[in-house]
Amino acid sequence: MWTAMFTVLIAIIPIFSCIEDSALGIKISNLARQLSDETVYNKDIRPNFGDGPVVINITILVNDISSVSEINMDFTIDFYFRQYWHDSRLSFTPIDNVDELTLSGDYARLIWLPDTFIRNSKSLSMHLSTSSSQTNTLIRIKSSGNVLYSTRLTATANCPMDLRYFPGDRQNCKLILASYGYSTKDLQYNWAPGNKSFVLSDLIFLPTFSITGYNQSCTEETLTTGTFTRLICDIFFERSLGYYMYQIYVPGFLIVVISWVPFWLDQEDSHARVGLGVTTVLTMTTLTTSTNASLPKISYIKAIDIYLFMCFLMVFLSLIEYATVGFFETKRQTTKVHSEPIKMEPKIQPIIATNSKDDVSWIDKMSRIIFPTVFILFNIIYVGMFIFIIES
Ligand SMILES: *[C@@H]1O[C@H](CO)[C@@H](O)[C@H](O)[C@H]1NC(C)=O
Ligand SMILES: *[C@@H]1O[C@H](CO)[C@@H](O)[C@H](O)[C@H]1NC(C)=O
Ligand SMILES: *[C@@H]1O[C@H](CO)[C@@H](O)[C@H](O)[C@H]1NC(C)=O
Repeated sequence: MWTAMFTVLIAIIPIFSCIEDSALGIKISNLARQLSDETVYNKDIRPNFGDGPVVINITILVNDISSVSEINMDFTIDFYFRQYWHDSRLSFTPIDNVDELTLSGDYARLIWLPDTFIRNSKSLSMHLSTSSSQTNTLIRIKSSGNVLYSTRLTATANCPMDLRYFPGDRQNCKLILASYGYSTKDLQYNWAPGNKSFVLSDLIFLPTFSITGYNQSCTEETLTTGTFTRLICDIFFERSLGYYMYQIYVPGFLIVVISWVPFWLDQEDSHARVGLGVTTVLTMTTLTTSTNASLPKISYIKAIDIYLFMCFLMVFLSLIEYATVGFFETKRQTTKVHSEPIKMEPKIQPIIATNSKDDVSWIDKMSRIIFPTVFILFNIIYVGMFIFIIES
């Protein structure tokens, strides 16, 4: 008999706790519903209405920077955007030690949210969760009425770049946040207290840039519609030179070196000379065109343009040199042939050979020294300037 009662009791206890659990669930559901009850809560009215501005604290964690594009002058950034504010209408008395409600993203439709926008964005998108109706959104309401609204966003934002020192340039891309409709009288943004509210993940990897730093700041801006707070995130980029070294500078240098080879070739073999000259000129043209294809059509001269132009000039002058040598060669041959008496015919051949060798080699001999000297001097000055600019 006692054992039977004991068994029944043991069986009942979990049922009771179950009932208690579901009772808590119902209470919480009711609470969530009551908090955003449309008859009491108007989500069009900001918190703290008529009593000072509502303060929004912000933190940003940058997850990834997927591209920095020179041709479009923009960058694409994927970040967690968290906004904290106090809405006294959402405060509640804790139920059974539950003093925080974590709600689904759909709940965002029921409460007031700040109308934060990115001033310099070209496009902005939210990410879907694995369930297609849900975005990556988190809402957490504390019993005190403090709200956390966190979303994961991908923004493509404008980033005007100065490419004068390209590819030795540094860029500063900004993300500027502001409220669209609420001036500082109604809404103020702050970076959340603490050391760093704007943080970049360590895992960000960009193929042609390294990130040298980032900074957060806050300013005010006055427009005709009022004064607005602006939160500014700065990201500092430095271009990695490796790619440009191996794809542009080294090939350009070698093409110029190749164009000197004919100075050591037999000047009578003008076909080989002109063939090589035209090939190097065309190769330089292709190199210049392919380099500029991935850059915007800017009107000022970039550092890389100077180098490519110099390479082109060297190759072009080499071609002119071959032509000059060829011209004098032909002239000398014809004059010799005409001026020498026919009797001397057997002796003509050696005379022409020695003469032309001495005379024409004179241009080639000069070129063998002048061309490399000028180009190497240019390279030394160029690299010197480059290092000076990068270091300063
Ligand atoms: C926002 O930050 C301020 C300090 O800058 C702090 O006093 C306030 O409690 C914070 N508000 C919220 C809702 O976290
Ligand atoms: C801020 O950073 C400094 C060092 O960079 C550290 O000593 C300090 O404890 C940090 N403060 C907070 C509130 O995290
Ligand atoms: C970072 O921002 C602060 C203002 O918050 C500013 O004083 C400082 O100069 C900035 N640093 C850089 C490197 O831009």
